[in-house]
Amino acid sequence: MSKIRKIGIITGGGDCSGLNAVINGITKTAVNKYGVEVVGFTRGYSGLYKNDYRPLGLRSVSGIMHEGGTILKSSNKDNLFDYPVMKEDGTVEYKDVSDQAIKNLEYLGVDALIVMGGDGTLTSARDFYRKGLPVVGVPKTIDNDLPATDVTFGYNTSLETITDALDKIHTTAYSHDRVMVVEVMGRHTGWLALEGGLAGSADVILIPEIPYDINKIVEKVRQRDAFGRNFSIIVISEGAKPKGGDVTVREHVEDSADSVRLGGVGKILTDQLQELIPEHEVRYTNLAYIQRGGITSQFDRALGLLFGVNAVDLLMNGGAGRMVQLRGRKISSIPLEDVVGGGEMGETSTGGGKQVDPEGQYVQAAKSIGITFGE
Ligand code: F6P
Repeated sequence: MSKIRKIGIITGGGDCSGLNAVINGITKTAVNKYGVEVVGFTRGYSGLYKNDYRPLGLRSVSGIMHEGGTILKSSNKDNLFDYPVMKEDGTVEYKDVSDQAIKNLEYLGVDALIVMGGDGTLTSARDFYRKGLPVVGVPKTIDNDLPATDVTFGYNTSLETITDALDKIHTTAYSHDRVMVVEVMGRHTGWLALEGGLAGSADVILIPEIPYDINKIVEKVRQRDAFGRNFSIIVISEGAKPKGGDVTVREHVEDSADSVRLGGVGKILTDQLQELIPEHEVRYTNLAYIQRGGITSQFDRALGLLFGVNAVDLLMNGGAGRMVQLRGRKISSIPLEDVVGGGEMGETSTGGGKQVDPEGQYVQAAKSIGITFGE
């Protein structure tokens, strides 16, 4: 029999669709199946440190499945193992405050944690497990860049948003004979651009894994003009880079596990293209945060729910220290030690992670139907 009587939940890192489905699955399974209480900490690990939490019951998670974001709020800062603490003289020093978090958990009678997040959040989950706390991880990101799971929830909803946006942008592109540059998220991987661009009938897809040559893009636009299609849609990942060039950094967010925020490469490309193809109006749209919000897709609701239910089952049946994952059409699990901090998915924050294979089926299929990657 498990000694776990009360589970704490944390949502860390950037929000995405499906988090509420996981919270729903965890809470209902804990209460209905195991008779275990649940509390949700607010704003990621910050709530654990500041003892900011709310009890979660069947009523509080009712009706949240479809909602994007997280009812618990999130934070992509607040590493409690390296936390900024204000000293008396007003200066800030970074300290390990994880013992305070453990004390808070003891005070609340919380015996175990289920943590939803990406690399940074799950690294802390691993570190709390190393301190003796039973922890189960749930992988999350719209970027789909985590090798330790085939797919993450949030990704599918983002793809739906990108596809819908491209459908809408097509009408203006056609009506005005324009070249439309559409920038999408994905950090250092091109999944969102590739799958979204394919579904949304992009003519050019630019991804981090295949550095581009702007002349090849111009060539493609001119080919389409000659063919009587006087408009073109270019989908570009925020992490795309020209051949021999580097990524475009939007800003640095201090205290974040990965401080680099990408963005703006689409604007640079737009300005350069406008010079090279003055016969067209070239317009730039950055889909930005609309890719993270909105109503959660059926796929992400189902995956989130399955992850939530299985995370509780794992925790209650001796599986602490592991992370749920999707392999094929089955939920299984993998040790947290193997997925973070240099493990199977530990390289995501430094630009590694699950990359698009330039020789893989998706890229090859795209090429077969005439899409160019600017090579
Ligand atoms: O990892 C998810 C993601 O949305 C990336 O695609 C994007 O680069 C980043 O987060 C944006 O982070 P922030 O919310 O800090 O701007």
